[in-house]
Amino acid sequence: MTEAAIQRGFSLLAQPSPASQRTPGTWARALFRTAVIAAGIAALLLTAPGRLHAQAECLACHADKTLQDANGHSVTVDGDHFGASVHGVFKCNDCHINIKEYPHPDQVVKVDCKKCHADEASGLTGSVHANAAEHPCMSCHGDAHSIFPKADSRSNVYPLNIPHTCGACHGNDGMAQKHGLASVFPSYMDSIHGFALSKEGLLVAANCQSCHGSHHILSHTNPESPTYKANIPKTCGSCHAKINDDYMGGAHGKAVAGGNLKAPVCTDCHTAHSILQPTEAAFRMQSTPICGSCHKDKLSTYHDTFHSQLGLLGGYVETARCWDCHGAHGILPASDPKSPIAPANLIATCGRCHNGANRSFVQYQPHANAHDRKLNPALYFIRLFMNLLLAGTLTFFLIHTLLWLIRARYNQIKKKTAEGDKNA
Ligand code: HEC
Ligand code: HEC
Ligand code: HEC
Ligand code: HEC
Ligand code: HEC
Ligand code: HEC
Ligand code: HEC
Ligand code: HEC
Ligand code: HEC
Ligand code: HEC
Ligand code: HEC
Repeated sequence: MTEAAIQRGFSLLAQPSPASQRTPGTWARALFRTAVIAAGIAALLLTAPGRLHAQAECLACHADKTLQDANGHSVTVDGDHFGASVHGVFKCNDCHINIKEYPHPDQVVKVDCKKCHADEASGLTGSVHANAAEHPCMSCHGDAHSIFPKADSRSNVYPLNIPHTCGACHGNDGMAQKHGLASVFPSYMDSIHGFALSKEGLLVAANCQSCHGSHHILSHTNPESPTYKANIPKTCGSCHAKINDDYMGGAHGKAVAGGNLKAPVCTDCHTAHSILQPTEAAFRMQSTPICGSCHKDKLSTYHDTFHSQLGLLGGYVETARCWDCHGAHGILPASDPKSPIAPANLIATCGRCHNGANRSFVQYQPHANAHDRKLNPALYFIRLFMNLLLAGTLTFFLIHTLLWLIRARYNQIKKKTAEGDKNA
């Protein structure tokens, strides 16, 4: 290190602070700072003429908590914290590649994490967070000198910490809202997964990363994204494997696998970020309209039945809802012998709630539609007959009343003329 450099180092330290700020405290701090850095420089002069090698040599100055650059910006590094971090074994200039002496070069090269983590960096390319200025590695990994392995609870990307890390931007007033995206964090935290993670500390509950990935996050409109509609069963199924198998064996799963994206996937019935416990009344009340949002005809016929009327009475939730008869995941058409609504299985299906249900009981039609001649011929003709009967009866009495009125009027006029004749 040259005389001139040391001169610059000291002149930087000796920069007087404005008189107004000069209290005994600031004087003491300035004196302490000068002493620390002077000691640092002295140590350097003794050990490493010209070049700074070890962390300790950089920390001789940078461990000082009051060290600032010319703009008053702190340039302190907590050596203990850094030493414990995942990069603690590295020399400072493994990252700060062109800082090898003091004074530092005028153009300090920005740290390039890609140098050692090419996979993560290339994952970000093409992702929704590809804009490196808005989304540097540190926007998710936190302070560059305090990075820990992802399995360490101090890491920003430890499973229990991920929702907060992503939520910093995807919350109520985060920057994602300024990009026109919905606020996700609060609904996630209230969902079954958020609750399991934050209240029970359940590491295997789904966090943002489980469904979205970490670096190569894509929009749900991209067919390669795990959140693209057709891929959602697989994404949820990576944990809910049995349900995924049932679902894939059912009419909806088969339809989606066959490319019919009008059929529902997990999130159509459960949502993505506001997933409720399905045994909760709130979910059971909501689900009939969910099935009905696609099967509108079946919903309206269901609404005509006793089961539905009962459900509408002040939140009574124990009545039969769509999935009590159809199942929730392995839903099959009535023509499939494995279906709970196949004629041979109805006694068992209805019998779950109706003790002693027999063949005649299950003749009852949960979707009776009197307007559909092909589906319900008996009901259709009964309705037709009843309507004709009603119309016939009404017509008969209408004519009857009319004739009655005419007759009454005729009698009245006849009586009046008879009385007139008498008086004349
Ligand atoms: C003699 C004390 C001293 C030593 C030794 C020292 N620094 Fe600095 N460093 C400073 C001061 C003072 C600043 C504030 C701005 C300036 O002078 O460049 C600074 C600034 C920095 C900055 C911020 C630069 C910027 O413009 O953002 C980095 C990074 C840095 N030092 C890294 C290191 C590394 C790495 C080492 C060891 C190889 C090291 N420093 C050794 C005193 C020192
Ligand atoms: C894993 C890489 C890495 C290592 C190792 C590392 N740093 Fe840094 N450091 C960074 C990053 C990233 C920044 C943020 C600024 C940037 O992007 O260049 C930074 C910023 C700084 C700054 C500027 C402070 C600020 O808030 O702007 C100083 C000073 C600094 N480092 C000193 C050190 C010292 C001293 C060591 C060794 C004890 C060290 N760094 C080790 C990555 C590293
Ligand atoms: C959008 C947030 C985000 C950004 C930006 C981000 N990471 Fe990550 N990173 C994560 C998450 C989340 C994990 C945890 C992954 C897991 O649990 O499997 C992770 C894990 C890692 C890991 C551990 C190995 C692995 O893949 O599981 C490394 C290394 C890493 N990131 C480096 C980087 C680097 C380097 C950058 C910048 C080029 C970066 N990350 C940018 C969120 C991010
Ligand atoms: C000089 C090479 C080097 C540089 C530069 C570097 N790292 Fe690392 N990083 C490593 C090594 C080696 C490990 C430990 C081995 C591993 O797990 O990958 C590591 C580990 C990590 C981990 C933890 C991985 C895990 O297992 O969970 C993260 C996160 C990480 N680095 C992020 C960053 C970020 C962000 C930067 C830029 C500020 C950066 N690294 C710069 C070499 C480097
Ligand atoms: C630094 C703030 C920030 C952090 C941290 C962040 N994001 Fe983002 N995210 C954004 C912004 C801004 C966009 C919008 C990008 C655009 O449209 O240009 C976005 C976009 C997204 C999208 C795409 C939305 C769509 O369909 O277009 C998803 C999904 C997403 N982020 C998930 C995550 C996850 C998961 C994490 C945590 C691992 C995370 N984000 C961390 C700011 C952030
Ligand atoms: C259980 C899986 C799952 C979890 C956990 C999850 N997401 Fe999502 N996310 C999805 C799916 C699926 C979509 C696609 C859109 C949809 O179906 O609503 C999505 C969409 C998004 C979008 C785009 C919204 C838009 O307006 O286009 C963002 C942003 C997002 N998620 C961020 C997050 C963040 C942040 C977290 C953690 C707090 C998180 N997600 C947790 C599955 C999940
Ligand atoms: C990383 C694994 C994981 C992924 C991915 C995942 N879940 Fe879960 N999920 C869990 C765990 C663990 C629980 C249990 C929480 C509890 O009981 O406290 C759970 C609970 C549930 C529950 C509540 C019912 C119950 O048995 O407790 C529903 C509903 C649910 N998840 C739906 C989904 C849907 C839909 C998706 C995809 C959009 C999904 N999950 C993705 C792990 C996951
Ligand atoms: C057509 C709507 C629908 C679809 C699609 C759907 N579910 Fe469900 N799910 C339900 C209903 C309704 C219940 C409640 C069943 C009950 O209470 O008997 C439920 C219950 C659950 C439960 C709680 C455990 C249980 O069996 O009661 C989990 C976990 C779950 N679903 C996950 C998933 C996953 C993962 C997918 C995608 C592979 C999925 N669901 C697809 C409607 C659906
Ligand atoms: C997002 C729209 C949607 C939702 C929500 C939905 N379905 Fe479906 N459902 C479909 C489509 C589309 C098919 C036809 C699949 C095919 O072509 O085989 C279908 C098929 C069926 C079938 C088989 C009958 C047939 O015509 O093949 C039954 C039974 C059924 N759904 C019941 C339900 C029940 C019960 C729920 C609620 C738990 C529900 N559906 C929710 C769209 C939906
Ligand atoms: C009390 C039991 C029960 C309830 C509740 C019920 N269903 Fe049904 N559903 C059946 C039976 C039995 C059949 C077969 C006979 C028929 O078509 O009427 C059927 C037929 C269907 C079919 C046509 C299946 C095929 O193979 O063609 C669909 C779609 C359907 N139901 C949807 C729904 C929806 C949506 C709801 C809720 C709004 C619902 N069901 C409520 C018992 C029920
Ligand atoms: C989840 C339970 C459940 C299932 C499954 C169920 N029901 Fe019901 N049902 C009820 C309840 C509760 C009532 C009202 C209380 C009562 O009268 O028993 C009711 C009432 C009825 C009634 C009118 C009152 C009566 O008892 O005569 C008929 C008819 C009926 N159900 C037929 C059926 C048929 C047919 C099936 C099978 C296709 C079926 N239910 C499946 C719960 C269920």
